[in-house]
Amino acid sequence: MTDTSTADSTDVDTSSPETDRADTLTIRDNRTGQEYEVPITDGTIRAADLKKLAVDGEPGGLATYDPGFVNTASCRSAITFIDGDEGILEYRGYPIEQLAEHSTYLEVAYLLLNGELPDREQLDDWVHEVTYHTFLHENLKQFIQGFRYDAHPMGMLMASVSALSTFYPDARDVLDADARKLQITRMIAKMPTLGAFAFRHGMGRPYVYPDNDLSYTENFLAMLFKMSERKYNADPRLVKALEVLFILHADHEQNCSTNAVRSVGSSQVDPYSAVGAGIGALYGPLHGGANEAVLRMLREVKTVDRIPEFIDGVKNGKEKLMGFGHRVYKNYDPRAKIIKKACDDVFEVTGVNPLLEIAMELEKIALEDEYFVKRRLYPNVDFYSGLIYEALGFSPEMFTVLFAIPRTSGWLAQWEELITDKEQKIARPKQIYTGYRTRDFVPLDQR
Ligand code: CMC
Repeated sequence: MTDTSTADSTDVDTSSPETDRADTLTIRDNRTGQEYEVPITDGTIRAADLKKLAVDGEPGGLATYDPGFVNTASCRSAITFIDGDEGILEYRGYPIEQLAEHSTYLEVAYLLLNGELPDREQLDDWVHEVTYHTFLHENLKQFIQGFRYDAHPMGMLMASVSALSTFYPDARDVLDADARKLQITRMIAKMPTLGAFAFRHGMGRPYVYPDNDLSYTENFLAMLFKMSERKYNADPRLVKALEVLFILHADHEQNCSTNAVRSVGSSQVDPYSAVGAGIGALYGPLHGGANEAVLRMLREVKTVDRIPEFIDGVKNGKEKLMGFGHRVYKNYDPRAKIIKKACDDVFEVTGVNPLLEIAMELEKIALEDEYFVKRRLYPNVDFYSGLIYEALGFSPEMFTVLFAIPRTSGWLAQWEELITDKEQKIARPKQIYTGYRTRDFVPLDQR
């Protein structure tokens, strides 16, 4: 930044060749009367550039205050693009609609991690590597067995992913590219196994080991639902629906859980611990936990004729319309559109979920209501996904696990990008201190 009152303004190249427009911001600090010129790059200014705006004696200079990061970019990323106004989502430049229609989850995971779609040989190698790592250490199985019968599967998943770090001490070598690649493969491979074991634990059923003849999603369904049959054959329409759901959930740029993974990962802890933190963030009802909350909400509404009363409650601030609204999308979430379509394919196999009628009517009324229109609140990815999950035989507690499994590839792509980004530092925000300053300790009997 150039302090124009004191420094030579030629320090900053302010011209843009095409437009001759100065890509700078001039700031006048009315406390001191000084003017400063700050470069604008990619539509942002560097918060650190504001440090120079200081009144005599003030430590640190000017800072920005941005609870919830509503207008702060924390990184440069080449993985996922979202245009919230237009309802556009792209992974590495490929529209989500095309990936959902033509790709598989593991192919998309490769794309997120490597930047390009794999050729045939690369895909075969990648699928082989992931398949090779699907088994868990037996001690981890015992660890999962130690949970209470009614433990929430997200709590089990969070703990067991974090526990993986104790099985792979080489994971601490985060600056070694080969070691990172191995942990990434391991984690993507083991997530379905961990999720399925958590599911079976809650049902009191024996855990089913991976079947490496099956595809990623077929194997997951087998580990969830296989009983005494020799081979579990899932309906291909359900396999396809699960692939689509996994693709839609694979990444979503700097959301709450990805930010948690990046923030924790910035301490250079192993990736199992960083992803464990991401799972914790995803668990919350404002984030991935919303799909579970949607199902509970639909059950509470119970019948279509009670919708107007429920909507009044939302407008009076008594409740939230779960599965609606998004920090970035101010339009229909493109993922919700695809899921709505996938509902039909799944219900063709499983029969229609009776809650669908309530969901569709709720959506119709909300989209016409001034409260939602004014705030640009549209259905998000979680509004319809729970209906499919329920039809597939999952209890609501499992819904967020079904989000966490595919999001692992996105978290890890973002983690890899973080570790290899020379500009990144340990995450350490500032605060505005509002508490007492120095005061003397008061002994207990004098308080
Ligand atoms: N129902 C009713 N009112 C809402 C809702 C909702 N679902 N979402 C936002 N609003 C209102 C909010 O009360 C506020 O109104 P006002 O201006 O009068 O105070 C206005 O809309 C702006 O909302 P906000 O809370 O400032 O927006 P945000 O960007 O901080 O929050 C959100 C985004 C997703 C947390 C929020 O929309 C929400 O809580 N939605 C329900 C939970 C949900 O479905 N979460 C899943 C998100 S998508 C999947 C994922 O990424 O995990």
